[in-house]
Amino acid sequence: MEAGNRPIGVFDSGVGGLTVAHAIRQSLPGERIIYFGDTAHLPYGDKSEEAIRNYSRRITEFLLGYNAKLVLIACNSASASAYESLLGEYSDRTLIMDVINPVVEHVAAGNYKKLGVIGTKRTISSGTYEKKIHEASPSTSVFSLATPLLVPMIEEGFIFDDISNAIIRTYLSDKGLTDIDALILGCTHYPIVRNQISKFFNFRVDVVDSARIVAARLRDVLEKNNLLNSGRAEQDLFFVSDFTDYFEKIARMFFESNINLKKADIWN
Ligand code: DGL
Repeated sequence: MEAGNRPIGVFDSGVGGLTVAHAIRQSLPGERIIYFGDTAHLPYGDKSEEAIRNYSRRITEFLLGYNAKLVLIACNSASASAYESLLGEYSDRTLIMDVINPVVEHVAAGNYKKLGVIGTKRTISSGTYEKKIHEASPSTSVFSLATPLLVPMIEEGFIFDDISNAIIRTYLSDKGLTDIDALILGCTHYPIVRNQISKFFNFRVDVVDSARIVAARLRDVLEKNNLLNSGRAEQDLFFVSDFTDYFEKIARMFFESNINLKKADIWN
């Protein structure tokens, strides 16, 4: 098999990475995606760095079992905790991409005065966004806020309703976010409630999510490495470590028709 005709491995703790996988499906229709949602360990945002590194390593091995030409960490918590270690360990066998660096480069080009970042406890406490934005754009100030209820809220299907509106309003009313020009959705789950977030700010704040930015970067990386698929892509595969009805529902919402979803018991 030609090197470029191998699949792209994508992983997250649950449905969040589907926002990125969906953008890849739209911008790179010739590519095959092997997706892994680690629903057994969800949410990653409350776990230790060491635990997330171990999960990420095991999932990368699983995706390499499918001969992935590139492994995309479609999760901010895992990007903040495990990107460097996966690079160190696997870059002689596959390409590794995260979701934080492409977003930082995107906002650094936007000349924003003040940025807000919302994400999981793990992502925010790592300080990764602040550090990288400061390096790339020293004149931009950053206010970061952990919004840990959003992932379980989304995974439980509370979207476009009173509960999610109340939670979003409570978090985004934080004083630190009053004068921002743009808000980074520093968690791949959050685009699912993107409209509710934009509406809270009366559509006056740029809401930046990683899906399309990362898909565009992925295309560049594949092109540069001569790894675009030149053949006919086989059907995508979706795996979860624990079966949840909601995962299937959201996966069908993004990928329509006949998705191929299986449980992969990689922890035993
Ligand atoms: N989508 C993951 C992220 O971007 C989810 C985090 C979680 O499982 O807590 O951080």
